Amino acid sequence: MPWNPVLAIGVPEIDKQHETLFQKAEQLFEAGKNGKSKEYVGELLNFLGDYTVTHFNDEEAYMAAIGYPDLQLQKQQHKDFIGKFVKLKQDYEASKGNILVILGANQLVIDWLMHHISVEDKKIGNFAKSIGK
Ligand SMILES: [Fe+2]
Repeated sequence: MPWNPVLAIGVPEIDKQHETLFQKAEQLFEAGKNGKSKEYVGELLNFLGDYTVTHFNDEEAYMAAIGYPDLQLQKQQHKDFIGKFVKLKQDYEASKGNILVILGANQLVIDWLMHHISVEDKKIGNFAKSIGK
């Protein structure tokens, strides 16, 4: 699932990170599909998880900096996603490297990101624009 420019919210730093998230999810999906080793896939999972945390922190700092009114809602949604992702990593470990877990992981990441970006993060972009940022 490649990045789609329709998902851009108009804040370049954030859009860039969203694009990277999609690339990382794609790499994970490909690795799972191509039967890469459990260690390799595990590293990609870790990387995606770490990158997501960094991205959420950056996005939250941006929202705070512009006085975005729905920061708490965003924080809660980010936290929920991290929780889901951690659970997924545990499932992958427990499954001893089952590809179905990876395909499920990819679906979770892509579906969640698409929905979250197109609905919630778009509002950040609109708010930034409304205050001339
Ligand atoms: Fe967000």
